Amino acid sequence: MSTVKKILIVHHSKTGNTKNLTSAVIRGAQKVNAEIRSLSALKASSKDVLWCDGLILGTPENFGYMSGAMKHFLDEIYYDCLDKVTGLPYAIYVKAGTDGTGTVINIEKILSGLSLKKINEPVLIVGEMGDAALSQCEELGHLMAAGLEASIF
Ligand SMILES: Cc1cc2nc3c(=O)[nH]c(=O)nc-3n(C[C@H](O)[C@H](O)[C@H](O)COP(=O)(O)O)c2cc1C
Repeated sequence: MSTVKKILIVHHSKTGNTKNLTSAVIRGAQKVNAEIRSLSALKASSKDVLWCDGLILGTPENFGYMSGAMKHFLDEIYYDCLDKVTGLPYAIYVKAGTDGTGTVINIEKILSGLSLKKINEPVLIVGEMGDAALSQCEELGHLMAAGLEASIF
């Protein structure tokens, strides 16, 4: 008997763009019977990470890097989770005005330090947000939930 998979979505948004992307990720994940916990990067803890079967992180790019809130989350969980989350599937989505690469590189560096397993290339949304951006995030959420359900990841 397969158990319902648990997905943790940790996010931060200052002006609402990443928040809209987060809603799309949740919509996608809800297409599958999964338990979804969506938490602000200022509220999520290592307990939440140790609880989940799959982790999705969403942040804007601020000053060439992930938001301070997302960095705070990763700082907080790092040593609690080290050696306990090896192979945990993850995906990220980033909203940037003009760039986003610094954010992607640096989040991936930290997650690779934790030995997490990337399930998809990062979704990087640059500039104006349209339906295509929301669709990409919806697909990302769906991919995580469907892949976990099918035990692909
Ligand atoms: C303080 C600040 C710094 C930013 N720095 C960058 C940056 O370095 N590179 C970039 O591409 N966009 C940058 N932006 C643009 C944001 O990434 C963009 O507006 C994004 O959509 C904000 O997401 P949010 O609405 O979820 O807060 C910056 C925005 C702010 C407010």
